[in-house]
Amino acid sequence: MRLFIALLLPEKIKEELAQNANDLSKYCSKGNFGRPENYHLTLKFLGETTEQQLPLLSQAIQEAAAGTTAFSLQLADWGTFPRGNQHIIWRALAKPYDELMLLFTKLETALYRAGWAKEQRPLKPHITLARQAVFTKPRGPIVIPQQALAFSAQQLALMESCRLDGQLTYIPLTVARLQNLQN
Ligand code: 2AM
Repeated sequence: MRLFIALLLPEKIKEELAQNANDLSKYCSKGNFGRPENYHLTLKFLGETTEQQLPLLSQAIQEAAAGTTAFSLQLADWGTFPRGNQHIIWRALAKPYDELMLLFTKLETALYRAGWAKEQRPLKPHITLARQAVFTKPRGPIVIPQQALAFSAQQLALMESCRLDGQLTYIPLTVARLQNLQN
């Protein structure tokens, strides 16, 4: 099974991102714009994993979440990772995001103890809106309405990526809740 670990996003954020994706799609001749329910913030891509490894992975995300209080994040500008003449389109997060980096480090430590290799590249937090997009004009002049919405990061999830009826679907297998300040 193909797995990754991600922060889940509230509905109001998914709605804003869906609007951004819709606006940006008008400047693309092609692009694989994902379904809004699939939007998420990846912290670790695990790739192909066996079912036997699930308990270890669940334990690692519970461990990372256990000592972490829910924290605030804010959407920043959209941008792209160029891939030849195609682009991955995303929205970034406003800096500083120290609590996010701390959670990422805790997760890396927990996964390392469970036997996974640490990331060699630094985390570039982003929420992907589209893949294989081809723009009809350069990035510079493209302006879309963007709300700098803030939200609370509360759920760290072990996710499975699969195809259901031919449709790319992300299924949360284990969800670890970050601690609520009020509790
Ligand atoms: P992306 O958002 O930058 O595309 C599920 O596919 C998640 O895992 C996506 O959020 C995707 O990141 C990430 N992902 C997929 N393949 C990956 C890879 N080979 N390396 C790192 N992350 C990957």
